[in-house]
Amino acid sequence: MTTPDRTHSERGGAGIRFSDVGVTYPNGHHGLRGIDLDIAPGEMVAVVGLSGAGKSTLIRTINGLVPITSGGITVGDTRVDGLRGRALRDLRADVGMVFQGFNLAKRTTVLNNVLMGRLHHTSAWRSLLGAWRRDDVELAMQALERVEIVQKAYVGAAELSGGQQQRVAIARTLAQRPRVVLADEPVASLDPPTSHVVMRDLQRINAELGITVVVNLHFLDLARRYGTRLVGLRAGEVVYDGPGADADESVFEAIYGRSLTAEDVLDAPAVQL
Ligand SMILES: Nc1ncnc2c1ncn2[C@@H]1O[C@H](COP(=O)(O)OP(=O)(O)OP(=O)(O)O)[C@@H](O)[C@H]1O
Ligand SMILES: [Mg+2]
Repeated sequence: MTTPDRTHSERGGAGIRFSDVGVTYPNGHHGLRGIDLDIAPGEMVAVVGLSGAGKSTLIRTINGLVPITSGGITVGDTRVDGLRGRALRDLRADVGMVFQGFNLAKRTTVLNNVLMGRLHHTSAWRSLLGAWRRDDVELAMQALERVEIVQKAYVGAAELSGGQQQRVAIARTLAQRPRVVLADEPVASLDPPTSHVVMRDLQRINAELGITVVVNLHFLDLARRYGTRLVGLRAGEVVYDGPGADADESVFEAIYGRSLTAEDVLDAPAVQL
């Protein structure tokens, strides 16, 4: 049971709209083609596809990390393409990101890592001197509570397991008070039980805070289980868009161009030796 979070519940999630989006990289590679997606505020979307299908490209266009080369993207009321400077930084404050490699500052404490999520709202002198506002520290502690790791607040980040580090990374993102959280293969470096713990954290922030979550996943069973909506990409195009639970063998073949193997699922039944 978590405490109701006044600061978050005021914000809720933002919708994301892709209109005929294309990305062609400078070397001529097509990252995405003709993407039309309308993600409602508060949806939890899992994106799957083979390596090179465009999952990371898709997620990174949402916060402007990868510039689109045709079409348009909006997050809430903000048109993403073409944003720069202060407006782009404001968008990125609203759109948190979680990575496969956690990206924590290892030489400092868990709490300091989470406070980094407040940097956008903090003057340079305060962050340089570590003179964080009491409200910001409270928000950071609440974020750690939300991912059930508040007891590690004063521990060095380097002392945590991979799963714990990913939970801290999620807390850091939450401290931003984001309206969207993007996660690019957040469990790819974790063992199966820990993967479920981290996926449940993402599910919880989606359900309790109404934050829109878009998560790239390698394993189809995880995507079906946690993505209320599943988007399948193949060669930069959407080839499936529907409920995770409806993604059956034929959907799998459309996305991967072959049948399902044990490599494609996290919790594959043990092989008889
Ligand atoms: N910076 C880049 N410059 C040129 N081409 C790129 C760049 N990043 C990605 N691509 C190309 O765009 C396509 C989509 O790549 P992307 O990284 O989005 O795939 P992915 O689905 O995330 O793959 P993975 O599962 O391996 O992470 C690929 O053909 C890739 O080679
Ligand atoms: Mg990728």
